[in-house]
Amino acid sequence: MSTSPAVESAAAPARVVVLVSGSGTNLQALLDAAIDPAYGAAIVAVGADRDGIEGLARADRSSVPTFVAKLKDYSSRDAWDGALADRVAAFEPDLVVLAGFMKLVGPAFLARFAGKVVNTHPALCPSFPGTAGPADALAYGVKVTGATLFVVDAGVDTGPIVAQTVVPVEDDDDVSALHERIKVAERQMLVDNVGRLAREGFRITDRKVRFGL
Ligand code: GRF
Repeated sequence: MSTSPAVESAAAPARVVVLVSGSGTNLQALLDAAIDPAYGAAIVAVGADRDGIEGLARADRSSVPTFVAKLKDYSSRDAWDGALADRVAAFEPDLVVLAGFMKLVGPAFLARFAGKVVNTHPALCPSFPGTAGPADALAYGVKVTGATLFVVDAGVDTGPIVAQTVVPVEDDDDVSALHERIKVAERQMLVDNVGRLAREGFRITDRKVRFGL
């Protein structure tokens, strides 16, 4: 892959759109961090694929505009994907953060925001991709797991890795306990690295993500 600067200005706050599907604790961490102008990123909108979730309520409480694009409201997955891209594009993002967004974005979306979409996954990629990362790690019996921030490509949790964070798996863990431990580390990783992406920009060469333009 060739060099690909994603965030073009390191001076102005980067415009960040966050997509969520659930409780939005990762979103909240970003909202809290972005209060500080020195963070370098402004959360300009929050989108979701469903109504009635705490993630949207968190955005409302921070007076951040929200939108919902439900797959079932469109004639096809491609139509949904294009509509989602339109909704996001309206906010002119420098960076799109998938923070617990439980849908795969499709070709139209990725073409529109090429190299500008990052996702956080609750496992150490390339292990345990998909929607059950903590459960799959627990079932496998690994002794450490964690979370991965990556630049989204057409695969499932396969994109170039921005950052990873590691947590132990304890003998008495259930999926919930393990996922909660992961999420504590995940939120810190997300805040630290979205800030750096926003302030410094990044480039990708041969799958290696490096900060700086
Ligand atoms: C995170 O662990 C994310 O990686 C996974 O779902 C969780 C979302 O948590 N896909 P929240 O909605 O940010 O609290």
